[in-house]
Amino acid sequence: MGCCFSARIKAESPPRKDRNSSHDSKEEDGLMGGSSKFSTASVPPTPKHRTEGEILQSSDLKNFTYNELRTATRNFRPDSMVGEGGFGGVFKGWLDEQTLAPAKPGIGIVIAVKKLNQEGSQGHNEWLTEINFLGQLHHPNLVKLIGYCLEDEQRLLVYEFLTKGSLDNHLFRRTTHVEPLSWSNRMKIVLDAAKGLAFLHSDGVKVIYRDLKASNILLDSNFNAKLSDFGLAKEGPSGDRSHVSTRVMGTYGYAAPEYMATGHLTKKSDVYTFGVVLLEIMSGKRALDRNRPGREQNLVEWAKPYLSSKRRIFQVMDARIEGQYLVREAMKVAKIAIQCLSVEPRFRPTMADVVRALEQLQDSSDTGSTSSSSTVPRQHKRSTNESLNGADSSEPR
Ligand SMILES: Nc1ncnc2c1ncn2[C@@H]1O[C@H](COP(=O)(O)OP(=O)(O)OP(=O)(O)O)[C@@H](O)[C@H]1O
Ligand SMILES: [Mg+2]
Repeated sequence: MGCCFSARIKAESPPRKDRNSSHDSKEEDGLMGGSSKFSTASVPPTPKHRTEGEILQSSDLKNFTYNELRTATRNFRPDSMVGEGGFGGVFKGWLDEQTLAPAKPGIGIVIAVKKLNQEGSQGHNEWLTEINFLGQLHHPNLVKLIGYCLEDEQRLLVYEFLTKGSLDNHLFRRTTHVEPLSWSNRMKIVLDAAKGLAFLHSDGVKVIYRDLKASNILLDSNFNAKLSDFGLAKEGPSGDRSHVSTRVMGTYGYAAPEYMATGHLTKKSDVYTFGVVLLEIMSGKRALDRNRPGREQNLVEWAKPYLSSKRRIFQVMDARIEGQYLVREAMKVAKIAIQCLSVEPRFRPTMADVVRALEQLQDSSDTGSTSSSSTVPRQHKRSTNESLNGADSSEPR
């Protein structure tokens, strides 16, 4: 969940573990950096404008009792735990499709139950922010929140279950039994995430997400991608204001430089972060990884010089998908990444622009038969160094 940690709270938090990923508590301590979070003050964010009662009453979310969720997850059994983030453990459970009453495993709808294990108001506020936003916002590329539980000290959230877990697990796990994500699935995921963000940024919604990262992109059985974790989301600026002033919160390696420097949050901060995730998807490398050699630790800094060169782009691309894409496709995606990662926010595209560019790319891949070389089966279009010697030709390889 989009939880922020000041250094103090981080030190007090229990070590987190994600059954499906390579995260470990070292990352929380900033030793690996992959998902270490930061914040610059200790005042938790509060959803504005509506009181807690209004937020909880206005949504059509189900208000579960603790007992119902305990039954649905078989007493939060350790073997039903699918992951753990800063908010707490995530458990798999079942509900009756009609009544939403707890059901036996394998019967009814599958749910993911997040159980807050942090003490204090910070966790409560993130829990409430999640309900405030996801209780009102519905889109195919946002995870569906089904309900919540508020009982004594217990705070829980109930979501639709996404079978393939988070993108993080698929991109960064190097195990033999998990197939690397194919290029076409990567492009589908990236387009879905862009659509989710474009929806949030649209005029009728105007929400800044602030916590885009691979672990917050969840995948269903068909690799449809949905954004999750709205604990850090903010209403965008109203009237003539260009930005919202916030304390700086998020995950190291993902945040836009001007946001880090000033705390001024705009939609363009999300666009920058989208650029970072795009690079992660292209490269299969984490935004920040302190296990990599010095100059390679920060993905954006390391990759930027390679992105505009047809000859050098392959240094960035994930070797596990070599041969699945055309050079010109990789270059187009790299161009979108470069634009999103512009240091100057006004040079970044809008998320609607990004959706259009990615859709065009997908259309041209689908109808690639107009180009002579595209008639070659895609798996035979090898991106070897040999084929790149004529590097600046725009012919796909
Ligand atoms: N709706 C869901 N369906 C299936 N699995 C889920 C769902 N929500 C979360 N998970 C699993 O639980 C893991 C932990 O999720 P969570 O959002 O709590 O933490 P995180 O995003 O990994 O970290 P952070 O606290 O930094 O946001 C995810 O990586 C994913 O594997
Ligand atoms: Mg998450």
